[in-house]
Amino acid sequence: MCRGEGRHYVGMRKMVTIGLTGSIRNIFTAKESGPSVPWSIFLAKGEPTTGHGQCAQGKGLMSRLTVSWDERLVGYLYPEEDNLVVFEYADSWLSQGFTAISLSLPTEMKKHGPERSTNFFRNLLIEGPAYWAIMDKTSFDDNVLYDYLTTYGLDCAGALSIGPEGWEDLRPASAYRDVTDQLEALAAKSFKDRPPLLKGLGAKLSIAGAQDKIPLYTKNDRFYLPEDGSNSPTTIIMKIQSDNYKFLVENEYFCLNLADSIGLSVTKSKIITIENTNVLILERYDRAKTEDGTIIRLHQEDFCQALNISPQRKYEEQNGPNFKKCTDLILNSQLNNKYLDLENFIKASIFNYIIGNCDAHGKNYSIIYDNKLTGKRLAPFYDILSTLSYPNLDNNFAMKYGDKNKLYKIKSEEWIKFANDVRISTVDISMTIKNIIKDILNKVDCCLNEILIINRSADIFFDSLYKNICKSIFMLEKEAETIGLNARK
Ligand SMILES: Nc1ncnc2c1ncn2[C@@H]1O[C@H](COP(=O)(O)OP(=O)(O)O)[C@@H](O)[C@H]1O
Ligand SMILES: [Mg+2]
Repeated sequence: MCRGEGRHYVGMRKMVTIGLTGSIRNIFTAKESGPSVPWSIFLAKGEPTTGHGQCAQGKGLMSRLTVSWDERLVGYLYPEEDNLVVFEYADSWLSQGFTAISLSLPTEMKKHGPERSTNFFRNLLIEGPAYWAIMDKTSFDDNVLYDYLTTYGLDCAGALSIGPEGWEDLRPASAYRDVTDQLEALAAKSFKDRPPLLKGLGAKLSIAGAQDKIPLYTKNDRFYLPEDGSNSPTTIIMKIQSDNYKFLVENEYFCLNLADSIGLSVTKSKIITIENTNVLILERYDRAKTEDGTIIRLHQEDFCQALNISPQRKYEEQNGPNFKKCTDLILNSQLNNKYLDLENFIKASIFNYIIGNCDAHGKNYSIIYDNKLTGKRLAPFYDILSTLSYPNLDNNFAMKYGDKNKLYKIKSEEWIKFANDVRISTVDISMTIKNIIKDILNKVDCCLNEILIINRSADIFFDSLYKNICKSIFMLEKEAETIGLNARK
């Protein structure tokens, strides 16, 4: 995957930039024609425009989108010139004293400016080949961001459902269509011949990230998508193998499993086989079941959203989140258990170094809100895999340890700077590193056995991944020892 703008690939940075370059605006304002939403339905309501910029759809007849937090109206989204949007809280939301949808969009302000609003909502869009496949298939007018959310915003990451004003009155009741057979057909094809899943299934959902994946609802081993026009919640995310990056599914499963086994809170995952192909099933941590079995949405925002950073700046080198900014965010955001969250964030960062996960950027950490709209905490970790196992992916860490982002350059001085950035003492960082190494060495064999039972043919891949882990541990152990000795002097 490329850095900066352009076509992202498989959710990670590639060494070689491919495809589009140019400003963000250029990418998102690609001129196309006419939406795929049944506009007649919405236009029939005859909503007058409210004068908040030129209307992107319906040539001025449609004025705004409604933004709901699960079933509750939270506000409105207006299109602005230059592919921007403006978000405004609804009076009903503010008068009840409910929480903000983002740390970057506080409720003290009813209406937020285009820069902040756009940064938050642009982060809901899918990225990479799936985005471009949708762009190829869909005809959008001037404001691609607004039009995209109009069409695909009903089921996003977190609790928000976005749709044309009035859609709530017209949507079908909670309803799903069974797509199991279509998934089988897609999985059976090779990656090259398979359209990205979202395109293949005509799904109208949006989840960030660039890997080929699709949010689904599942029950009794069948898979469902929300019925057209319905915002019935999905409950899992399915990730599919890539031909370019072998054993991606097994890699992510193994790394999540290893992280879980050393006590990190990670997203629950399993591998299932569809038509002889392994796919990864991730349980959505932003969904919950009430006592009567109803599925509700829990809100989440990623660190880019919380920090008012656009998705094109998700890497530190693009002036995106780094360890210091993330630490400040965790400590200053009224999280229910901020010190525990910070401890876990630090452990996850050391774990990522050891497994060679160079793609832990600002969109791969999130804050999750509880259902009472009062508390929030660091979300379980997700998108954890060894990107260093693929030689043609960027081998610079997404966030610098100290001021280095190449594995072999990160020495004791860098770890001391890292400790400073994440506000712990050098004694503590040395201890934490040693403990994580001990835990990983205790658990890694078991996790390896498990993944090789799932896919025996991945043995060479995992042999090399295991050697990389051992190399990192060998280097890190020495550095931790040096830090410890210096700290005691
Ligand atoms: N288990 C999960 N539950 C809820 N949301 C998730 C889960 N895993 C990922 N997400 C959300 O989906 C987005 C994309 O997932 P991710 O695993 O990062 O995909 P990619 O590998 O394509 O970057 C994340 O940024 C996060 O907002
Ligand atoms: Mg990701």
